Amino acid sequence: MAKMAASMLQQGEDAFRKLFKFYRRKNPPPDFSDVIDFSKPGNHSRKVFNCDLNAALLSDGDACRAGLHPVCKWKAFGLDGYPGFIFISNPFLPGSQRHWVKQCLKVYPQKPNICNLDMHMSPTDTDNLWEKSRDQIRQKCAAKREPKSLLEKLRWVTNGYHYNWDTKMYSADHYTPFPSDLNALSEGVAAACGFQNFKAEAGILNYYHFDSSLGIHVDESELDHSRPLLSFSFGQSAVFLLGGLRREDPATPMFMHSGDIMVMSGSSRLLYHAVPRIVSSPDKQAVPQCLVQELADDTPEDSVVQNVSEEDWAVCAKYIQTSRINMTVRQVLGLGKAFPTEPDNENTVDIQPGAYHEGSSDSEESKVKRKKQ
Ligand code: OGA
Ligand code: MN
Repeated sequence: MAKMAASMLQQGEDAFRKLFKFYRRKNPPPDFSDVIDFSKPGNHSRKVFNCDLNAALLSDGDACRAGLHPVCKWKAFGLDGYPGFIFISNPFLPGSQRHWVKQCLKVYPQKPNICNLDMHMSPTDTDNLWEKSRDQIRQKCAAKREPKSLLEKLRWVTNGYHYNWDTKMYSADHYTPFPSDLNALSEGVAAACGFQNFKAEAGILNYYHFDSSLGIHVDESELDHSRPLLSFSFGQSAVFLLGGLRREDPATPMFMHSGDIMVMSGSSRLLYHAVPRIVSSPDKQAVPQCLVQELADDTPEDSVVQNVSEEDWAVCAKYIQTSRINMTVRQVLGLGKAFPTEPDNENTVDIQPGAYHEGSSDSEESKVKRKKQ
């Protein structure tokens, strides 16, 4: 029996891999009609149910300061067979998503944070990616094939406790302060989902283009799996596959559109998942409608979400026409817990050069190969 399962795996014929390959296929394009679209009422499978969040857990003021609608207005869903999985269909206030796109492109990649380009470039070459790339991106002509700027070669950024792709570990001595704005957003969303005292300790930002995918994996390096994992998506849409506790278990396909949030908690915290494909946002326009809007004039002064200048947005808008950004936020340690004393400190900080390859789909695949057991 085990032998048979192994041979099926080798041929890539298990249910999850089959589905992954199906949605990744370019020619002919796959039929997307089985993909759950939470943004369309009535376009849900029988598995979907409305999830009533307790609006008292996050005040309207705190939600507003984090750039979110009041919780009573959120459209949250659960999926039969996936307890602890919560899908929140774009709860962002008009204009606030722009802030996160700009932060992911201009601020979060800055040193001392780590990114895929550091694997084969010196820190001076990978610093100030925004300044080094903005003119090139702004002047890009969609019809022509032009060399990629550094920002367009960005595939991932880590912040907080920096995830080490080789050891698959976080460590106490490789930490940079977690961004306070992303912390406020994460704490707010976690609280609304019933997770008070969530600590945003590690962020992995993924940057996707239309040819990118993220292979089948499970996020298990965090030390307390009773804490949720939050995922925020901006820009173009993705097909996301949510599988089971075993790699070969069948998966449920769903779209993630700009502004959508996923919470993986409880017995869904350690489920296998993947992103086989990036697709255009359903709005039939270059930039999704929720990113076209600007921040309202009555945005509170103490809001963590700031207005993005026209100059900066021109660069972000051009980038996001062909890209998707995903931020995952993790609590690494249990509440009040520290890292266990490490038997071997030497290989927790080093990043092997060449851990990532250039080119989007390859790099995503190699990342995941490093993540899986
Ligand atoms: C991850 C992840 C999913 C996504 O970074 O671990 O699963 O939607 N991302 O990009
Ligand atoms: Mn993941």
